[in-house]
Amino acid sequence: MTQQIFPETLKVIAERHSVKSYDPDFIFPEEHKELILNAANQAPSSWNLQHWKFLVIDDPSAKQRLLPIASNQKQVTESSFVVAVLGDLQANLNAETIYGAAVESGFLTPEIKDTLVSQINGAYASGGSIPRDEAIRNASFASMQLMLAAKALGYDTCPMGGFNPAAFVQEFNIPERYIPTLLISVGKAAKPAYASGRFPLEQVIVKNSF
Ligand SMILES: Cc1cc2nc3c(=O)[nH]c(=O)nc-3n(C[C@H](O)[C@H](O)[C@H](O)COP(=O)(O)O)c2cc1C
Repeated sequence: MTQQIFPETLKVIAERHSVKSYDPDFIFPEEHKELILNAANQAPSSWNLQHWKFLVIDDPSAKQRLLPIASNQKQVTESSFVVAVLGDLQANLNAETIYGAAVESGFLTPEIKDTLVSQINGAYASGGSIPRDEAIRNASFASMQLMLAAKALGYDTCPMGGFNPAAFVQEFNIPERYIPTLLISVGKAAKPAYASGRFPLEQVIVKNSF
């Protein structure tokens, strides 16, 4: 990086990597956990429906139950906690509350709110992959914000898709409304992440059209 200007956010992005080895004895400050989850909760979402739930797994016995479901990845038990980011398959049900509050605050008229809510319900009722696509897409933004917030506070994370979703749903009583999208370990690194590279930028940018 030859550029001299390196704002803090870019530094955090550059320094985030997937850490697999954590200090199991580290006592994670509750206020930092809250800051991290709050940052995740600030993610953007389509129609602001906020298609996520964070199942925080920090109890040692719950981590032990998760371990075999997550391919025995040791970051599950060594990290301070694991966040299972769940996507909301019925996020349209949030619309009335969210836009109702906007009417109460004077940001929307009741007529616009009703139009928006019926558009959203129409999209969700149209069949196809919309509920699932939206759940996964929007929950993923929250996941990324969570990982960057943790890094900004001096912690490390590892996103994990390597788990059995059906077994996870059963073991942790996940309601049908939610789809598990990602597990994220959070904690104090004991060893740095393995080195990982990226394709050169010119290989991943396409200008205007293929
Ligand atoms: C959707 C997703 C699933 C992943 N699943 C796992 C996993 O199950 N176990 C693991 O150790 N790393 C997992 N990773 C981490 C990737 O291997 C890692 O992000 C990639 O190699 C780049 O390295 P870096 O994150 O350290 O920069 C996953 C990452 C993503 C985004």
